[in-house]
Amino acid sequence: MYLSKGCKCEEAVLLCLCFFCYFLFATALITDPTEVDALRTIKGSLIDTNGNLSNWDRGDPCTSNWTGVMCLDTTHLLNMNLSGTLAPEIGRLSYLEVLDFMWNDITGSIPKEIGFINPLKLLLLNGNQLTGELPEELGFLPFLIRFQIDQNNITGPIPLSFAKLNTTVHFLLDNNKLTGELPSELSEMPSLKILQLDNNNFGGNSIPHSYANMSKLIKLDLSFNQFNESIPTNKLSDNITTIDLSNNDLIGTIPSYFSRLPRLQKLSIANNSLNGSVPSTIWQDRILNGSEMLHLDMQRNQFTSISGSTNLPPNVTLWLEGNPMCSNNNTLAQFCGSESDSSINGNFSVSCPTQACPPPYEYTVDCFCAAPLVVNYRLKSPGFSDFRTYMNAFQSMMSRGLKIHIIQFHINKFEWEEGPRLGMNLKLFPMYVDDNSSHVFNTSEVLRLRNLFLDFDLPTNDLFGPFELLDFILLDPYRDVTVTSPSSGISKGALAGIVLGAIAFVVTFSATILVLRLRLRDTPSKRTKASRVSIKIEGIRSFYYEEMQAATNNFSVSARIGQGGYGRVFKGVLPDGTVVAIKRAQEGSLQGEKEFLTEIELLSRLHHRNLVSLIGYCDEEGEQFIQKNLLLFP
Ligand SMILES: *[C@@H]1O[C@H](CO)[C@@H](O)[C@H](O)[C@H]1NC(C)=O
Ligand SMILES: *[C@@H]1O[C@H](CO)[C@@H](O)[C@H](O)[C@H]1NC(C)=O
Ligand SMILES: *[C@@H]1O[C@H](CO)[C@@H](O)[C@H](O)[C@H]1NC(C)=O
Ligand SMILES: *[C@@H]1O[C@H](CO)[C@@H](O)[C@H](O)[C@H]1NC(C)=O
Ligand SMILES: *[C@@H]1O[C@H](CO)[C@@H](O)[C@H](O)[C@H]1NC(C)=O
Ligand SMILES: *[C@@H]1O[C@H](CO)[C@@H](O)[C@H](O)[C@H]1NC(C)=O
Ligand SMILES: *[C@@H]1O[C@H](CO)[C@@H](O)[C@H](O)[C@H]1NC(C)=O
Ligand SMILES: *[C@@H]1O[C@H](CO)[C@@H](O)[C@H](O)[C@H]1NC(C)=O
Ligand SMILES: *[C@@H]1O[C@H](CO)[C@@H](O)[C@H](O)[C@H]1NC(C)=O
Ligand SMILES: *[C@@H]1O[C@H](CO)[C@@H](O)[C@H](O)[C@H]1NC(C)=O
Ligand SMILES: *[C@@H]1O[C@H](CO)[C@@H](O)[C@H](O)[C@H]1NC(C)=O
Ligand SMILES: *[C@@H]1O[C@H](CO)[C@@H](O)[C@H](O)[C@H]1NC(C)=O
Repeated sequence: MYLSKGCKCEEAVLLCLCFFCYFLFATALITDPTEVDALRTIKGSLIDTNGNLSNWDRGDPCTSNWTGVMCLDTTHLLNMNLSGTLAPEIGRLSYLEVLDFMWNDITGSIPKEIGFINPLKLLLLNGNQLTGELPEELGFLPFLIRFQIDQNNITGPIPLSFAKLNTTVHFLLDNNKLTGELPSELSEMPSLKILQLDNNNFGGNSIPHSYANMSKLIKLDLSFNQFNESIPTNKLSDNITTIDLSNNDLIGTIPSYFSRLPRLQKLSIANNSLNGSVPSTIWQDRILNGSEMLHLDMQRNQFTSISGSTNLPPNVTLWLEGNPMCSNNNTLAQFCGSESDSSINGNFSVSCPTQACPPPYEYTVDCFCAAPLVVNYRLKSPGFSDFRTYMNAFQSMMSRGLKIHIIQFHINKFEWEEGPRLGMNLKLFPMYVDDNSSHVFNTSEVLRLRNLFLDFDLPTNDLFGPFELLDFILLDPYRDVTVTSPSSGISKGALAGIVLGAIAFVVTFSATILVLRLRLRDTPSKRTKASRVSIKIEGIRSFYYEEMQAATNNFSVSARIGQGGYGRVFKGVLPDGTVVAIKRAQEGSLQGEKEFLTEIELLSRLHHRNLVSLIGYCDEEGEQFIQKNLLLFP
């Protein structure tokens, strides 16, 4: 949950409840006392099993380090195992734009006072145990974009006032215990694209006539309810791609307009009592472009025949199992097998050479060790049943939306769940550009990507449909990077960068680091006598260029084990048998003398379980001063 965006004004308090919070503080903010009181009251009505909010009773939320309270225009949330109820005082947070208590265990009813938070844009209460009815006041929110209270135990009808939500694009109330008929007034919501009301106890007429007026509607999910009339014949928007009416008690025949929906990709009317014949015009007259598919699930109804051709165009699937026509007609056998419920899941790991990155770093697809941002994500009602054909399209849509390169976006795992929904484990990696690429995202990039997910600020398309975020996991390196402590001399961010530069190459070896620096002419044979850089660090040896040459078989390709941070890395064996990694800088990316010495000193002081220690360095000086820096990591 956060209160107004931006913190130029005093009241700009951002409050978040999250599992992995950043602690970022703006110093001079003084929070409006009304809001502070409101926060205290809200806390008082929650049961904080983990004690995460125990510091919410002293000082000012913005200056006294309240857990999860953020005073910058970053947002955040996520499951914190909170139970208890939502206090009505929440309505006093009058600058709130996002109210986010997703995936907790909050009980009680939804305070009607939420309806008075004028600026509210995202109302996210899904995944709790909320009961009671929907307050009609929620319909008064003039800027609400996303209404998401799915997966609770809400009862009663949808209030007519919701028709006034004229900015709402996503309206999700699925998986509750709502009853009554669907209000025809909802057709007055001009911005609505996704209407998801499945798994409730609605009855009567399924699609009110007026819904024909919802011109932007692309997805309508009314499955698993008790609609028991015939499907109205008023044509829905040409924009519609998904209609799911399965698992109701619908009667009558298929309305003819189902054959006139130019963008339809998924139609499910399975498990109803529809009868008559199935018009082949649904698929016959369709022109499917590019990657479009048409998936028609009509199983377990009372259909007696197909009127028209049974030749399906490519990319159309039709399921008819469990209809009378299947029991006595062999020509329909191809449609009468039951849809294989062996939903195919996927698991993808990148395969890179022998070495492994030290956890939590992982190989990217281009075999570069980096720390991913891990995202658990779910498509709530995808318009396909086999994801494999759409993985590329999904990757490109998401990477475009996140403004990252497609190779930074990795689908680690996907798994079909009840619904059917498609759960995914995603990994976002920093980009490998050249050897100086960072192995972690910088803080602002992490925050930017996080916000895109948390604010639902990502593109969806008709095919993939609405999504939900289950978790945004920040691994160890990001906790270091994001916690900035201005007082200490060396920032943790910088330190992490250095450690990372090194550990990316600490692979199968486990001894010590040897840092070398060479200055030599074009032709090593003509090199003059070496002179040493004046650096004395206890326990650090110095080496000659020739020794490094010998150790690596003249920097042969076969000795090369990697590439990154400061240049190429070679495996070498010193005369005494010590196995080392040797890092050789790229020409043109030269360090100054001072930087080089600083680096050696720093490396000699660093102790980290993932970081090997420094054993030595080398500096040779030739006449023409072509510099090559070599670092050795065992
Ligand atoms: C909440 O408390 C639990 C248990 O003390 C702890 O493991 C977790 O890190 C805390 N979360 C936050 C966001 O402070
Ligand atoms: C804020 O709280 C965190 C964790 O509770 C602690 O590590 C940090 O030192 C605190 N900072 C200040 C300025 O009190
Ligand atoms: C959440 O709280 C319940 C008790 O209310 C506890 O049993 C459970 O272990 C907690 N879960 C986590 C992840 O902290
Ligand atoms: C919500 O509904 C589920 C499933 O019907 C039930 O298990 C759970 O106890 C209910 N919770 C509350 C708070 O009523
Ligand atoms: C929504 O309705 C309000 C009043 O009912 C009106 O002022 C506003 O302009 C409408 N917004 C849109 C986007 O139609
Ligand atoms: C259809 O559903 C409505 C509302 O649930 C109910 O009142 C009515 O009796 C049902 N009609 C039939 C024929 O089952
Ligand atoms: C659609 O909207 C128009 C104008 O608002 C209205 O006249 C018409 O009755 C509506 N159609 C239905 C089926 O409600
Ligand atoms: C489809 O939706 C777009 C906006 O998303 C709208 O401009 C257009 O009029 C709609 N098309 C139809 C046929 O309703
Ligand atoms: C239809 O209902 C049966 C039994 O209730 C269920 O097993 C099946 O999954 C349903 N089919 C679809 C397509 O939802
Ligand atoms: C279809 O079912 C309805 C009632 O559910 C019935 O009145 C009608 O006669 C049936 N039509 C056919 C062709 O079986
Ligand atoms: C659609 O059909 C065409 C032609 O058979 C085929 O090349 C294409 O791969 C199909 N697309 C999908 C998404 O299956
Ligand atoms: C089987 O179905 C096809 C296509 O609907 C139809 O042409 C044919 O007459 C049917 N045969 C029987 C015996 O019903």
